[in-house]
Amino acid sequence: MAKQKTLEDLFHDTLKDIYYAERKILKTLPKMKRAAQSDALKQAFDKHHTETEGQIERLQKVFEIIGKPARGKTCDAIEGIVSEGEEIIEEFKDSPALDAGLISSAQAVEHYEITRYGTLKRWAEELGYDDAAQLLDATLQEESTTDENLTALADQDSKQRAKAA
Ligand SMILES: [Fe+2]
Ligand SMILES: [Fe+2]
Repeated sequence: MAKQKTLEDLFHDTLKDIYYAERKILKTLPKMKRAAQSDALKQAFDKHHTETEGQIERLQKVFEIIGKPARGKTCDAIEGIVSEGEEIIEEFKDSPALDAGLISSAQAVEHYEITRYGTLKRWAEELGYDDAAQLLDATLQEESTTDENLTALADQDSKQRAKAA
């Protein structure tokens, strides 16, 4: 009989999921930056690209803490969110709605990350990985701030459209 899986296994699997997702996001952010129309949005994608590098390093530390190699596992959710974003880039090229679409897909990414990091932090605490919980919380805070900044950019973008109308 197969060994029964534990919360420790689930934690490890979910860590691999977000590790894959972060590396996918790292590759995607420069494309989002290139596509963005407003300078403020370009800058936001740039800033988050740098933050994402740090988040990947934090995840590598968490793998170290649990004594496992840093390895990802295909995350279908992030693949789906990213390919919807790519569709927006293609279909709304030169449209006054392009930045709104980019912001919406970036926020979908942030919300996915927020749910993952919230869960991982909780499980790290339960499993007694206090240092890992702190690392995961640091990233969770960054993702939440990024989401708030995107909301502010969405407001600006919408005002811009109202002015142009
Ligand atoms: Fe991230
Ligand atoms: Fe993020």
